[in-house]
Amino acid sequence: MNLKQPGIGIAITGSGSAAPVHSLDNQGLSQLVETSDEWITSRTGIRERRLAAPTDSVTTIASEAARGAIAMAGLTPADLDLIILATSTADDLFGSASQIQGELGAQKAVAFDLTAACSGFVFGLVTAAQFIRTGVYQNILLIGADILSRWVDWSDRRTCILFGDGAGAVVLQANDRDRLLGFELRSDGTQNKYLNLAYVPQPKPLIDGVTIAQGGFHPITMNGQEVYRFAVRRVPEVIEKALFRANLSTEDVDWLLLHQANQRILDAVGDRLQIPADKIISNLAKYGNTSAASIPLALDEEVRQGHIQCGDTIVASGFGAGLTWGAAVFQWGR
Ligand code: UT7
Repeated sequence: MNLKQPGIGIAITGSGSAAPVHSLDNQGLSQLVETSDEWITSRTGIRERRLAAPTDSVTTIASEAARGAIAMAGLTPADLDLIILATSTADDLFGSASQIQGELGAQKAVAFDLTAACSGFVFGLVTAAQFIRTGVYQNILLIGADILSRWVDWSDRRTCILFGDGAGAVVLQANDRDRLLGFELRSDGTQNKYLNLAYVPQPKPLIDGVTIAQGGFHPITMNGQEVYRFAVRRVPEVIEKALFRANLSTEDVDWLLLHQANQRILDAVGDRLQIPADKIISNLAKYGNTSAASIPLALDEEVRQGHIQCGDTIVASGFGAGLTWGAAVFQWGR
């Protein structure tokens, strides 16, 4: 897209990723819960997942992913105007983006967290784009990072087989040519109950007549079948809407980059949109569902392997808790 006003288009010029070193395969999981490699592989496509060690944190893995993205973009941390961390598992409920800013030495950058579960990266991409389109900022680091292993019930075979830990990052830069071609974002809080990592209050009397709540977060609960149904119905819709806004059709798509939740969801969405399997990016066999990290982690692997080339048209779609879902159509590179 050519712009009337130069310099307020968006280019995605760098990517990076990081995952903890420890890996747990399906065989290992079957020592923990009643399951099998056969069940997990056939129902989800997942074979192994990375798990953060006690010494890892969202800040450390996010910073590692960020350094890769900043270097690929040819920038230094001092060039960054804004850092957005998409996460649901911050090291600190007050937010972890500032810690990352400090860790990177990005003195000039303002930093904040954004929470939209597995849609966090796509929501973050669109949020970052608004700051560039209004001419406010030129160089933005967007990170998707989650350590869901902290919050999984490791005795619940319906959820613990799905999730893994990781981080991915991109750099967005102001550009004369606008490479963000279209997007569509959605939320539906009426279906919130299907996927939660909820705070559960415990009444605590303070003094006579004053009771407050002090509790904690319960592990992830999910109605898998409802979330599955939601994903295969809503994701194709939102992608078609984003493509419509971009004035493109599914034939123009070089890569379908979905949140890596389940291979069956990837296949069903590809089928519905009639996008061939060789255009559907999938790395969930190695990482499982890494929530906000899954899209930038998969993007970075494809870029570094030379599969995604400058100018390729990518449609990315995130979906998950909230419920939230969204899609963004963009071309890779400047
Ligand atoms: O990022 C957030 C987005 N989340 C998702 O996208 C998740 C979407 N949902 C899914 O991916 C799938 O629903 C799951 C992979 C979670 C489950 O697959 P499913 O084909 O929907 O299985 P199900 O829940 O219908 O369970 C079928 C059977 C049940 O046994 P019965 O009742 O038929 O006897 C389950 O108890 O499989 C059983 N089961 C398992 N068996 C072995 C459930 N989990 C397991 C397991 N190992 N880990």
